[in-house]
Parts: sequence; structure tokens; C-alpha cells
Amino acid sequence: MKKIFLNLGKQPITNSFLNKIDKKTTKNEFFYNLSIGFDKKNFLVSLMNYVNPKKMFNDKYAHRASSSKTMRKSFKVIASKLKKRFKPKKSLEIGSNDGVFIKNFDKREVIAVEPCKNLAKITKSAGFKTYSEFWNKRLAKKIVKSNNKIDLIYSANTISHIPDFKEVFDAASIGLSKNGVFVFEDPYIGSVIKNNSYDQFYDEHAHLFSLLSVSKILSNTNLKVFDVEIIKTHGGSIRFYICRRNSKFKKTKNMKFLISKEIRQGLNKFITFKKFSNRVKKSKKKLIHILKKLKKNNKKIISYGATYKSTTVFNYCNIGTNFIDYVIDTTSNKQGKFTPGKHIPIISPKVGLNDAVDYAFLGAWNFKKEIQLKENFFLKRGGKFITHVPNVRII
Ligand code: TYD
Repeated sequence: MKKIFLNLGKQPITNSFLNKIDKKTTKNEFFYNLSIGFDKKNFLVSLMNYVNPKKMFNDKYAHRASSSKTMRKSFKVIASKLKKRFKPKKSLEIGSNDGVFIKNFDKREVIAVEPCKNLAKITKSAGFKTYSEFWNKRLAKKIVKSNNKIDLIYSANTISHIPDFKEVFDAASIGLSKNGVFVFEDPYIGSVIKNNSYDQFYDEHAHLFSLLSVSKILSNTNLKVFDVEIIKTHGGSIRFYICRRNSKFKKTKNMKFLISKEIRQGLNKFITFKKFSNRVKKSKKKLIHILKKLKKNNKKIISYGATYKSTTVFNYCNIGTNFIDYVIDTTSNKQGKFTPGKHIPIISPKVGLNDAVDYAFLGAWNFKKEIQLKENFFLKRGGKFITHVPNVRII
């Protein structure tokens, strides 16, 4: 049973950028209550109420995984690492987005699974075998029937999106070859607690995993975690290496080390999350305080990166065009639109990061380094960034 520890209020679908702002569009905007709970039985942190995946992952899905240099590089590195370590003859990616990971593989040796039709079209037309469907047992059976078993199933920032985690693992079990591995990575709850990055909670993140929770979930299946890594992507992610219980892979030392660390951090206790929730409330107060002060001094504030995360921040803290003039983002299909819920216009950085801007809120704080390097000119001329991670401050 989940017990609630955090309530982030009424939130829209983070991916539903609005084309225009008029009475009809805003009246039809979908909102749900975003509250988060902890399950004492399996140590899993999940949304109290899941949003129907069909509402989120459709043919209008805006996010392009290849839009950041950091992510392009990171997918290239992990693809080469996995090929070297596991030498897979057949690989598959769950949630292949625009193909940023699979393009590092030979087209004959990799399969893409992507339910968003607009994204699946991209990999299909690039010549990759693509299934535009949700990952489940039925699809796994269908794929195995026409392609044999899979040696490597990889997934980044997707498994946490699927409410029914049992179905995910059962499907992996159907798809994997005898010594096949299922490697997936998602934002890490340990980093969220450490960095106070409450904006990792939004409609798409049905769960945020720890090693404790995934080990517990798999304890009554024929799969096991045999290795784990904490990585830097998305402000701290966890990468699991999973295989069949009777496969040749033995548990690594990383496992024992991380389990003890998570117990020390209290990721198995409700009180840890309750304390986190108090810190989140303080973060909201401080952010509003800073923005009010800057506005009083007639400062021009914008936001950098029309991220899903910033949708959570803006709607939870009630930040709209009263504080933020506009959001800048390099993604062309976000430009010209308005942010979900708070309806802040989104424009291109080329136009938006002009000399009149005094402060830019780091909506894409997970790319802080990349952005600081890129926007050296803005910083040199006295422009400043505002962030709320790990605490609210002006950089
Ligand atoms: P992302 O990290 O995927 O965050 P979320 O999952 O919360 O949406 O999104 C980063 C966004 O920031 C994406 O829309 C691209 C944008 N962006 C820029 O506009 N400029 C940049 O230099 C970088 C790194 C990202």
C-alpha cells in the first residue's frame, strides 16, 4: 500500500504544449492532482494516481532525445560499452525516441520499440525495424516469434514511465535469450532526495526507482539485478543490469555497496520522504521570494529549457508570466507554443537570450554545465542563472 508524502497540486500533462492561448484551448486543458507516495512493502516511490499512458505518449510527443549534445554523447558511449561487454547479436530498445541510441548499431541487429507514432516514423524511415507499440508481453511474444530471442534489451528514461512494472519485467523475461541482459536507466530517487529535485515528479514518471525497490520487485520473478551504476544523466540516474536467475552473470560488488548506501540514506523508510517533502515546501517559498525581489527591482527574467521538470516547478509554485517573460528552447517543435498549465510563451534561444535579459531560471538544470559553457557570453555581460537544485540560489 502506498502512503502519500508529497502533494504537488494540480498539474497539466507536461508534454502538452499549447499551440495558442484562447478560451477554448485553456478550458479543455487536462489537469490532475500530482501526489507522490512510498510503498513500505517494496520500497517503491510512485505517483499516487497514474495518468493514462495514451494521454501522454501519442503522435504529438515533443521530446527529442537527440536535442542535447550531452545526451548524444552519453548514448554513443553506453552503446559502445554494452556492445563490448555483452557482444549482443540482437538488440532491442524500449522507447527508442528519435533513434539516438540505436543509430550506434547495425540496422540488421537492432529493433526499435516506440509507441509515439511521430517518433517511430523517424527510425522507420531511417531503415530501422520499428514497432510502434507499447512494450508488453503481447509485443514481446510477437517480436520473439519473428526475430528470435534478444541478447540485449536497453531502455533509457522509459521504464519509469510504465505504471505496470510487472508487465515490463514479464515481457523482458519473454524476450531475453538464455544469457541475455536487460539494461535500463532512469532518474534515481536517491539523487532526487539528495538534490531536492522534486521536479523529477511529473505525469510521465510513474515511479522513481532505487536498487532496494527493483531488487524487491524482482525477488519473486525469474530475473535478478546483477550489476548497477549511478550515472550523471538527468541530474543523477540509476542504471540496472538484469538477467535471468540461472544466467552466467554473477552479482557484482557494486550491488552490495549501493544497497548499504541506500539503507544509510533511508530509502527504505517513510520518514526520509516525509523530511524531503518539508524541504520541498521550503524550496517553493524561497524561489517565490527571490523572483518577487527581482521583479520588484524591474529585472527581466526568462527560463532556460522548456523542460517537463519546469512544468512541475511552475505549476507547483504558481509561476507564470507574472515572473517569467518567456521560455527559450532549442527544440523547434516547442518554439511558438506555450508551456502547459502556466502558458508561458516559448521562443528560440537565438531570439530570446538577448541583451535585455537579466536572469534565466535553469529549467534544464540537468544540463547546467553544457549551458554555462554555451552561454559564456550571457554570463560575461552580467547575466545570471537562477536554480532550485540542490537549493534555491542565483549562480
Ligand atoms: P530534458 O533534459 O529532457 O528535461 P525534461 O525531461 O524535464 O523535459 O529537456 C531539456 C530541454 O532543454 C529540451 O527541450 C532541450 C532544451 N535545451 C535547450 O534549449 N538548450 C540547451 O542547451 C540544452 C542542453 C537543452
